[in-house]
Amino acid sequence: MRLCLKKASLTCLSGLRRGNRGSGVPPTLNLCRESQLPTLRFHLTGTKYSCGSGGCGACTVMVSRYDPKTKKIHHYPVTACLVPICSLHGAAVTTVEGVGSIKTRIHPVQERLAKCHGTQCGFCSPGMVMSIYTLLRNHPEPTPEQITEALGGNLCRCTGYRPIVESGKTFCAESTVCQMKGSGKCCMDQEENISEVPFVFCFVEMCTKLYNEDEFQPFDPTQEPIFPPELIRMAEDPNKRRLTFRGKRTTWITPVNLNDLLELKTSFPEAPIIMGNTAVGPSIKFRDEFHPVFISPLGLQELYFVDSTDDGVTIGAGYSLAQLNDALHFIVSEQPKEKTKTYHALLKHLRTLAGAQIRNMATLGGHVVSRPNYSDLNPILAAGNATINLISKEGKRQIPLDGRFLEKSPEANLKSEETVLSVYIPHSTQWHFVSGLRIAQRQENAFAIVNAGMSVKFEDGTDTIKELQMFYGSVGPTVVSASKTCQQLIGRKWNDQMLSDACRLVLDEIYIPPDAEGGMVEYRRTLIISLLFKFYLKVRRGLNKMPAHEGALEDFPIETPQGIQMFQCVDPHQPPQDPVGHPVMHQSAIKHTTGEAVFVDDMPPISQELFLAVVTSTRAHAKIILIDTSAALALPGVVDVITAEDVPGDNSYQGEIFYAQNEVICVGQIVCTVAADTYAHAKEAAKKVRIVYEDLEPRIITIEQALEHNSFLSAEKKIEQGDVEQAFKYVDQIIEGKVHVEGQEHFYMETQTILAIPQEEDKEMVLHLGTQFQTHVQEYVAAALNIPRNRIACHTKRAGGAFGGKVSKPALLGAVSAVAAKKTGRPIRFILERGDDMLITAGRHPLLGKYKIGFMNNGVIKAADIEYYINGGCSPDESELVMEFMVLRSENAYYIPNFRCRGRPCKTNLPSNTAFRGFGFPQGIVVGEAYITAVASQCDLTPEQVKEINMYKRTSRTAHKQTFNPEPLRRCWKECLEKSSFSARKLAAEEFNKKNYWKKRGLAAVPMKFTVGMPTAFYNQAAALVHIYLDGSVLVSHSGCELGQGLHTKMIQVASRELNIPESYIHLSETNTTTVSNATFTAGSMGADINGKAVQNACQILKARLEPVIRKNPRGTWEVWISEAYKESISLSTTGYFKGYQTNMDWKKGEGNAFPYFVYGASCSEVEVDCLTGAHKLLRTDIFMDAAFSINPAVDIGQIEGAFVQGMGFYTIEELKYSPEGVLYSRGPDDYKIPTVTEIPEEFNVTLVHSQNPIAIYSSKGLGEAGMFLGSSVLFAIYDAMAAARRERGLTKTFTLSSPATPELIRMTCVDQFTDMVRLVRRAPC
Ligand SMILES: Cc1cc2nc3c(=O)[nH]c(=O)nc-3n(C[C@H](O)[C@H](O)[C@H](O)COP(=O)(O)OP(=O)(O)OC[C@H]3O[C@@H](n4cnc5c(N)ncnc54)[C@H](O)[C@@H]3O)c2cc1C
Ligand code: FES
Ligand code: FES
Repeated sequence: MRLCLKKASLTCLSGLRRGNRGSGVPPTLNLCRESQLPTLRFHLTGTKYSCGSGGCGACTVMVSRYDPKTKKIHHYPVTACLVPICSLHGAAVTTVEGVGSIKTRIHPVQERLAKCHGTQCGFCSPGMVMSIYTLLRNHPEPTPEQITEALGGNLCRCTGYRPIVESGKTFCAESTVCQMKGSGKCCMDQEENISEVPFVFCFVEMCTKLYNEDEFQPFDPTQEPIFPPELIRMAEDPNKRRLTFRGKRTTWITPVNLNDLLELKTSFPEAPIIMGNTAVGPSIKFRDEFHPVFISPLGLQELYFVDSTDDGVTIGAGYSLAQLNDALHFIVSEQPKEKTKTYHALLKHLRTLAGAQIRNMATLGGHVVSRPNYSDLNPILAAGNATINLISKEGKRQIPLDGRFLEKSPEANLKSEETVLSVYIPHSTQWHFVSGLRIAQRQENAFAIVNAGMSVKFEDGTDTIKELQMFYGSVGPTVVSASKTCQQLIGRKWNDQMLSDACRLVLDEIYIPPDAEGGMVEYRRTLIISLLFKFYLKVRRGLNKMPAHEGALEDFPIETPQGIQMFQCVDPHQPPQDPVGHPVMHQSAIKHTTGEAVFVDDMPPISQELFLAVVTSTRAHAKIILIDTSAALALPGVVDVITAEDVPGDNSYQGEIFYAQNEVICVGQIVCTVAADTYAHAKEAAKKVRIVYEDLEPRIITIEQALEHNSFLSAEKKIEQGDVEQAFKYVDQIIEGKVHVEGQEHFYMETQTILAIPQEEDKEMVLHLGTQFQTHVQEYVAAALNIPRNRIACHTKRAGGAFGGKVSKPALLGAVSAVAAKKTGRPIRFILERGDDMLITAGRHPLLGKYKIGFMNNGVIKAADIEYYINGGCSPDESELVMEFMVLRSENAYYIPNFRCRGRPCKTNLPSNTAFRGFGFPQGIVVGEAYITAVASQCDLTPEQVKEINMYKRTSRTAHKQTFNPEPLRRCWKECLEKSSFSARKLAAEEFNKKNYWKKRGLAAVPMKFTVGMPTAFYNQAAALVHIYLDGSVLVSHSGCELGQGLHTKMIQVASRELNIPESYIHLSETNTTTVSNATFTAGSMGADINGKAVQNACQILKARLEPVIRKNPRGTWEVWISEAYKESISLSTTGYFKGYQTNMDWKKGEGNAFPYFVYGASCSEVEVDCLTGAHKLLRTDIFMDAAFSINPAVDIGQIEGAFVQGMGFYTIEELKYSPEGVLYSRGPDDYKIPTVTEIPEEFNVTLVHSQNPIAIYSSKGLGEAGMFLGSSVLFAIYDAMAAARRERGLTKTFTLSSPATPELIRMTCVDQFTDMVRLVRRAPC
């Protein structure tokens, strides 16, 4: 949709306030539901809402404005959730609907994203489309670097980004993809096995092209819609007037010129100036700030200029950070290098500050004035002696952008009536050095953990310090200046002694209290001096006192990822119509990219519907003394408050409590919900519910505390083989250790969303929701409402990602919503905010693993005794099952003759942890790899040698006595090491490490034996319902849910092969409990396996019924046969059924055929770590995954890559933070960092290895989860690099391994003089 905004007023928009999020708003702008400030939210289905804070890019749209000065049109991406609607007066807004639609014509960006397999769940896809589309509007032939940069602000939790980047690269001028079009093969494909040549040429009958470029429509940039001429006329109108939008509570004023702005600032001195709204917006949304008046001079010509003189440059306050970036690039291209040091420093940070959308919204003036403590630019501006040009009705004045300003000293502040007109940045000089330094959890789009701006001026021609300035961000409530330190160093020489004194002084001057917000105190103190050291080296290099190539100085470059995906070619004898084995595009891919794929939040409003907001417990363990709802009920629009009293059936079912009653057992437990006519009203009222608590003991938060209190959710699970105790007596060495693996947030892009609609008759209730387990929802709702399950219908069209997080939690949330719907008698729309979702639904279980290992000096492990404890949280959920899986899979790929593993889930006062991709395996197996690494260190072997020595080699029995043949495991492992040139690259890394003290490279390879399916046979069953209609079209239903994993796509492939008809004849609409009853969960990597068998069964039944008709008329068409069959009264509808794999597990004996089959794989990763900051860069990953026969290589590779990147995030940067009281701090993309496009391997190669699996449909294997654990190759590569650093520092002993390997952990493990100094210099607060 293209929206041309000529007239927008608060008055007219306030009418839409009711209709936020899924309401009856016409296809026009809408208001973000919780904001006091009206923001842009289109109620077209395309623009998605995921975080509401500008951090995920799901809501990206393109804004276009005409600049009357330059006569140019400026297109830029914005995150709609932070764009106030009034700020768009005179702008044209293009949403994904305006780019292309299935109803009219899809745009090449949408087509290529879909066909390159860049969508899975599709929730992020419209945002991706808009980011690439906007780039193309400005650069029709972008470079690969521009594509990567454009996508930096868009999160995707499913794909692993590689195919998204690849789709963007198809627009690049130099083709970055294979030129051998149309053949279905690439120039890399080889028919022969040529084993001597590099990796990519080594396979027989392997393909590398997952799509055919010949199918792409050409991209013609001249065909884009023109900018509305009316808006040009408006912009050039010489008689423009002040604009005022008046709402019920707030007024928005857009001044007509600078004088008008000054007038307004005098009249309303407290009114914020709204520019990008990236600082004001979040404070209104998340910190409840209120402003009766807003002044928005956005677009005011006087604030947009660049004025360059011989001494420096003045930049208008209205320039966005993206425009600032362009202006600085121009200046550095014009000026001699010595004058541009400050600009270079700013440019470096501008590349990684937030994502492209925020950089296009946020302004220089807004950034300088808002002075966030994490500011990336202010420390550099201060170090570069910038000044701020202010203006008010009183006149103009300049203030220095210095320490006092940044530390918010009242005398250095702006006066309330003043406006920033511009910022002046002087040129640097020959003896003046300026630098910006920063480290964040993630390279791009993450607030700095610590950043700094530093500058030094020397006496001409000497290294004697004349002036020194150091400013640090993220070390206190404001950016701070180390002014005393700098003062004391004036006159000193720039040498090691000065550095040493400087470090001591600055540590003494900048105090970070032990309880500082954000924690990481030792790390941040270490960074203060590590960054200073980097600056010291940079300056030495500038003074020609050091080689130019010193590696410690450079930040890791951001490269555009590339790689090769290899898979088996389809048998040339296979009929062309048969889609099985082909990389068929996701069934909904085009709809994902056009935004026409409907998620629950996109469903049109239902008459009388109410919105639900939750009130959650703020205490971990407490008695509820009082719930006072009177203030909430008195608010406008509020219909009811629902509590435990209102649950007609069971409020506590199978150990799960729907509404807290009498007592709360974790922070985040739902105490009550508020139903109101809008979400804004519901949320406002929820804040007014007053709950009085009385804390109870014990309050158990950690696993250690649970062990102390003997607090468990279930009994111990154990497997054992051999005689462990006896074996320990005869080994050469014994080691013992502990491993901590922290939890993980699912961070599906679509938060949990439920629409519960009570029906008029027979107590029926209909629920629309994204879930992996409809039966469970049905069961819980039935229990809560006390009605039979046949009255409850659950519908799932698709879920915007799930990863295990939508197995059990939707049942709880479904019950909560259904109770509200029942009580109010009205439809309930319940959409969890990102923060509430993270708080309430929890995620992967943290693990404490303990091991005792007995081994011989040659690396053979003889005995292992393993203990697992996971933090299950406050209720049973899936914790017992997770522990069973963890124990059963604990041996991974290794045969240890005497092996014992025991495990128990702990009960704590945290929200209940739940299923998560890999189901315990990704955590549990870290323990195994950790002791392998420790054994290797003790035996002077590499971890890979110890893995090889102990790996299963022939048909064997697992520790739980299940027979298997590890041949594919051996093949994956061998090929992984060989084809990735592991040994040669390991030597090269060692060479690199010898030459680089501050940067280290590490490599690691991990083998994997993973399981598919469930140890309980009845969980492996599935059903399908297939109807053939009289026109020959076929409707397939089955028991699996589409979560983005391509399940429906594969089912269509199966039905197409079985019925021998084209895929276009087959439709798959949704999953619901009325067509297929009692469905098991879609999880455990077995969705396609079991539902495929059920669909196959149904199709074969129908095919058999049609056989006589076909025999009678063999030359007939499908349509004719169907018609004839009908006339012969042959039923054209049937169910299909798969009884399930016959598995069993006897926990009393600790043995059984627990799993239908195993999936094998191996991966190898290489990283480089920056020992001074703890940052790491993933240079290359090679994955070899045993796919047996892949039904759809594009889907399977997508699952592997997506799982790998999710795993890599889990093992490196994703970090959940709780307070000691059990309060979750990390509740959104600002504080919880999942990988972005910059984190994925620079080179990413994936190969599907062929094997046999006759038990599964078409001899395929389930690959949904297996890639997750392979992400641990990054963790162990980081450990390899850290070990190299430690060895060089004389520390040869094994060190404790834990996950995730965050920048903090890496930095503090690579101990050196700086970490030592921090430990020595401990200072009390002044
Ligand atoms: C998702 C996200 C990620 C981010 N990541 C980073 C990051 O990595 N690093 C970083 O440094 N920052 C980051 N930021 C912060 C961002 O840089 C600032 O929010 C932004 O620069 C503020 O500019 P604005 O134009 O949006 O200000 P607004 O929100 O419009 O205004 C902010 C304040 O400045 C005042 N103001 C604005 N203009 C003027 C003027 N001309 N004269 C006087 N007062 C004025 C307003 O009154 C208001 O009080 C991020 C922000 C978001 C939302
Ligand atoms: S929803 Fe707007 S950026 Fe996430
Ligand atoms: S496809 Fe990107 S989040 Fe699901």
